[in-house]
Amino acid sequence: MKITPADDNTTYDCLVLTIGPDDDWSPALERLDKQCGGVLSRAAAAGGISRKPADTTLVPLPESAGHGSLLLIGSGEQDPAEIDVATAFQLGSVAGRTLSGRPRKHVAIDLGAGLSDEAAEALVAGAITGTGGQALYQSEPKRFAPESIAFAHVSAAALRSGQTVGESIEVTRRLVNEPGNVIYPASFAEAARKVAEECDLEIEVWGEDRLQQERCLAMLAVGQGSVHPPRLVKLSYRGDERSDAPTIALVGKGVTFDSGGLSLKPSPSMLDMKMDMAGAATVLGVVRCLALLKIPCNVVGYMGLAENMIDGRSYRLGDVIKTRSGKTIEIHNTDAEGRVVLADVLDVAVEAKPQAVVDLATLTGACLVALGTRTAGLMGNDQALQQAIQQAADQQGEYVWPLPMHSFFDEQVRSKVADLRNVGEGRWGGAITAAKFLEAFVGDSKWLHIDIAGPAFADSATAERDAGATGAMVRTLVHWLRSRG
Ligand code: BES
Ligand code: MN
Ligand code: ZN
Repeated sequence: MKITPADDNTTYDCLVLTIGPDDDWSPALERLDKQCGGVLSRAAAAGGISRKPADTTLVPLPESAGHGSLLLIGSGEQDPAEIDVATAFQLGSVAGRTLSGRPRKHVAIDLGAGLSDEAAEALVAGAITGTGGQALYQSEPKRFAPESIAFAHVSAAALRSGQTVGESIEVTRRLVNEPGNVIYPASFAEAARKVAEECDLEIEVWGEDRLQQERCLAMLAVGQGSVHPPRLVKLSYRGDERSDAPTIALVGKGVTFDSGGLSLKPSPSMLDMKMDMAGAATVLGVVRCLALLKIPCNVVGYMGLAENMIDGRSYRLGDVIKTRSGKTIEIHNTDAEGRVVLADVLDVAVEAKPQAVVDLATLTGACLVALGTRTAGLMGNDQALQQAIQQAADQQGEYVWPLPMHSFFDEQVRSKVADLRNVGEGRWGGAITAAKFLEAFVGDSKWLHIDIAGPAFADSATAERDAGATGAMVRTLVHWLRSRG
């Protein structure tokens, strides 16, 4: 799919324009209405055009209009300059998704003059993600990315950066949507290598031998029931060459398939567990995006990859595992595997003394119970870090909410046999006890844990995106790292 500037002399298969809440129409819409003899004003008078924000109306156009059809989207704002980043992304997504409903060659999107550069970038990114989806393996596709999408009133810079953001979200989504027989630790690591090559990044992939040498016994334990052994990927981006420049560590849970292990999941809960590597895929998408945008910051992405399977060699309930940090874990439930993987990955990450550690993980069903399917849970040990990420999410229109980390939860992850147990005592506050477990491995680093079990993967489609992987938090983290100054 080509992303280009729009051009007045080109005829498009479909032109996307917006309609504000008031009676005044944009100059582009007025012009088009004249060209086609008032068809649009008659349609509006007959009540055939919705002005509601993000509502769409598809109008076939007569010859005289030049373009094949018009897609009108309610923008919620009369003045394009008032369209914020979150809305622009949404409008782009709705446009992209609607346009990809049938094959089209060249389409154009015009939100009007005055759109801010930030909003324009989000519009382009949204349009790209709107065309993507989970139907990767249908012999007869039902979604068709247009050959090209042209944008009016979008600067060359916003066009380029919007494309980078959109395509990075798609890298994340694609990996999450791929099934477990395609994406396993080694093949995920290969995908990361490709990104490293594309973006000229330094990459290290730890295989079994290195994981043994490094005493990453927790990661190895989770993966020991699988024919696909674990990997730890470390992907480094240096965009700030100053010798005293800080580094941010991003850590992702990459359980490429979570059967639950011996604490086997029932089939309905297991079906979507190819998505349990969304944290790692998010880290990969973010680092790719930062590198291609050349954001002046230093980030190391750590992806903890393992497959949680059931087998004669699987790790057991009651097993005691010595983590890389030296702390021991007693396994109470093999389905609480993400935190066991992250115990080692966090230890590797904090060893390098980053300025902050942010981990992303589809960690707990309890977080879905607490916050629903669309909101990520924030838990950590640093108020300022948490607020900064919450602000970035608000600005981008992604949903996050803090959960409390009161010290009385600490006791709930203590074991009678080992230092820690991998599930909380009692089932209440499961998202928090999981975070408390992670906290034991971050030392005195500033740290934020983002539980994306809800928002990473959707059961059903919306007007903005297909069901399946969402790419949640890529934009938030990119924005946070860009705006840190
Ligand atoms: N990957 C799951 C969490 C999950 C659930 C993600 C639903 C996305 C949707 C995680 O490994 C898990 O199984 N957690 C258990 C923890 C429990 C055994 C303490 C859970 O949430 O049930
Ligand atoms: Mn699990
Ligand atoms: Zn899991």
